[in-house]
Amino acid sequence: MPGKFLVTSALPYGNGPIHLGHIAGAYLPADVYVRYRRIRGDDVLYVCGNDEYGVPTTLAAEKEGLSNQELVDKYYGINRKAFEGLEFSFDVYSRTSTPEHAELSQEFFLKLFRGGCIVQKEIEQLYCGKCSRFLPDRYVEGTCPFCKTGGARGDQCENCGKWYETRELIDPLCKICGHRPGLKKTTHWFFELQKFAGRLREWLESREGWRDNVRNFALGWLNEGLQERCITRDLDWGVPVPLDGSAGKVLYVWFDAPIGYLSFTKQYSEQVGTPELWREYWENEDCELVHFIGKDNIVFHAIVWPAMLMGQGRYILPGNIPANEFLTFGGEKGSKSRGNAVTVPEYLEKFPPDLIRYYLTVNAPESSDSNFTWEDFAKKHNEELADTFGNLFHRILTFAHKYFDGAVPAGAAGEKAALGEIEATRRKVEAAFEAFHIRNSLREVLSLARWGNKFFDEEKPWTTRKSDRERCGRTIAQCLELIGALAVLLVPYMPASSAKLWRMLGFEGVPGPEQWGALGRPLFQEGHKLAEPEILFRKIEEIP
Ligand code: MF3
Ligand code: ZN
Repeated sequence: MPGKFLVTSALPYGNGPIHLGHIAGAYLPADVYVRYRRIRGDDVLYVCGNDEYGVPTTLAAEKEGLSNQELVDKYYGINRKAFEGLEFSFDVYSRTSTPEHAELSQEFFLKLFRGGCIVQKEIEQLYCGKCSRFLPDRYVEGTCPFCKTGGARGDQCENCGKWYETRELIDPLCKICGHRPGLKKTTHWFFELQKFAGRLREWLESREGWRDNVRNFALGWLNEGLQERCITRDLDWGVPVPLDGSAGKVLYVWFDAPIGYLSFTKQYSEQVGTPELWREYWENEDCELVHFIGKDNIVFHAIVWPAMLMGQGRYILPGNIPANEFLTFGGEKGSKSRGNAVTVPEYLEKFPPDLIRYYLTVNAPESSDSNFTWEDFAKKHNEELADTFGNLFHRILTFAHKYFDGAVPAGAAGEKAALGEIEATRRKVEAAFEAFHIRNSLREVLSLARWGNKFFDEEKPWTTRKSDRERCGRTIAQCLELIGALAVLLVPYMPASSAKLWRMLGFEGVPGPEQWGALGRPLFQEGHKLAEPEILFRKIEEIP
């Protein structure tokens, strides 16, 4: 039975170009997963877009000397293009600065407010006398109240991932002028998370198949005791607070952003001419909602967002939240402001999308951080893509052309070796995907290619060609079955290379659910004509 899935990647801030650290965290694993689901025949909607409000934007706009709108317009174009360049298969890639998004965010707010889960309070907030402004979030830096790391932002610590109130920051300094801020009275609205503690606990404890990092972080947070959290800001860039007497107040960016998952789904439904379509996902208990994120987003996706959804009372809750660790650069987290990471536009100037899709999946920071270097990228490419996959494809296809006239010889069907190996690989790949072990799923595919090279070496078709031509034909027929299976198995990871390989095998279009379902049974008819082989992966000789 095909399933129904709504898959999201964390909405990237529209304040700078996306880099390989982002891609490895919340994006590529999602696209690979989505493509896997589609080739299994499941109904999948893949939703994403830029996160355009809040201090991440205003701060970057001030730096670049652009208006907020100009800045987000600029990076909306850049990010869209970057994702296209990497062959992402979003059904919708929108942005949070649309009127529909603001309206829905206000609706979420009002529902919680009227339900008694949002309260108004007068508080003292950090205020810079020099700059004459309040200092929410990234406008201030200090020492994390939890892990005591310096250089921590006003809302969340990049080191330990904890989320806190700006006033809790130790030794705060204004990010703009460097002075020590004072305090000033202001009115804000607080989300009473503690009211959801019981339901959140029950829900979290009943989750199965979640990664340990996500479950432990969320339950740990819950065990420390939930508190009300300020969800509005004194800023002029954001979704306005929908209440009288709230001029100059907007929603905190982490309140409105996740609502984008829903507002974008609604937008998509409009675009495709079925405005009610979103209900089949968001109001359907049989739909699996999967949020791919980086580990710094766990608290928002596993606690705050589910509480916001519970408060609405009509939407499904996340079914899984696969969070990756970080891809580091020189051992450090990639950062737009520090500029230490390779950006996607930079990468795409050098190499085609499939190479990095392969590298960042086989090396994915799934259970611990991984470090990116061009040396390692080139090494893995040469050993695995060029020498293992590429070599297998090339030696078999050229052999079939040279000695069998470019047609599939008889005999694969009666042989168990390759087909059995394919069948076993398919099962392992499927099990790995079910468990969100996406890196391992690709390693299984790589193992199949290694097996193929070994099989070819052991069968010695260059000898049997003279001594036992029929056996030689059976060997080559089986090797071709292997390549055909690899073209199907590689669809989620390297769609362009898989399509090229499929054409070299003499097929049209791209492999689909029918071919996936038939993995382990013979793909070719005897005499099937192969197309001209080309080299798929050339060695990288010069390291960038
Ligand atoms: N923009 C955030 C980040 O890059 C992620 C937002 S995810 C959403 O860390 F759920 F809020 F959309
Ligand atoms: Zn910390």
